[in-house]
Amino acid sequence: MYNLQQELCRLFETGVAPLFSDQFVIRTEQKELVKQLTEVVSTHPSVQILLTEMKRKIGQYYDHSLRTGVLFLDLSLKQPGVVNFVGIPTLAIAGLLHDYGKTKIPPDILFKPAKLSEEERTIMNSHNQIGGLLLEQLQEREFPYLSQLVLQHHDYPRQGRIDHRKDERREYEVALEICNRTTDDRSLFLQKRYENPTLTYAGALLSLADYFDALSSPRDYKPAFSQKEVCLLIGSTHPGLEKELTYLSKRYGKEKA
Ligand SMILES: [Fe+2]
Ligand SMILES: [Fe+2]
Repeated sequence: MYNLQQELCRLFETGVAPLFSDQFVIRTEQKELVKQLTEVVSTHPSVQILLTEMKRKIGQYYDHSLRTGVLFLDLSLKQPGVVNFVGIPTLAIAGLLHDYGKTKIPPDILFKPAKLSEEERTIMNSHNQIGGLLLEQLQEREFPYLSQLVLQHHDYPRQGRIDHRKDERREYEVALEICNRTTDDRSLFLQKRYENPTLTYAGALLSLADYFDALSSPRDYKPAFSQKEVCLLIGSTHPGLEKELTYLSKRYGKEKA
């Protein structure tokens, strides 16, 4: 039986950032977030199946996805507009499942211990679009905006990249192929994410939580960055979210930024 509470406690108490705070009040709030997430997951067997698949297939990225789920829910609950528009159940699982698309990336690319080729990079980068496509049904059935949020989680840091549109088209073609989709409803799928400014902001928060965890924790191919480095790097990729970044750093950083 899948036990999210157990999984999250294991992850946030390993001595590596992101960590639960050593301040009693904040720590109590963080434990409350774990409770909220666990409640949503425990009443949705469909989500448990997807999380179990992630645990089995993507290892360190599964750990990362769960931690991102906590950080994203924490950030979102401070924004009444986001909570009212998206709703707590979707906010709870969008972070947990944001990297679900990685379960469909061939393991020799996902876990390659060396630099990826251009072709491999395109396949790897298509994971947000794969996740968006595969979670569409769950979005329609139970979690409004889920697939749109998952799709957005890599948008924000890439703003300003000259080849953004060209890459995105190619990655979308790869995602369609991996998901065995033949119909090309790209314009609908890719444009939906920008249909509402609150949703765009929620996507930016997910991207912030994602990047914060990715930089703060070690991966097979890199060590963990210090909080100072994390804040510097994210400050340049996520302009306009300085307050939200400081909030995360104060609550989850190992050393103060
Ligand atoms: Fe991702
Ligand atoms: Fe991620």
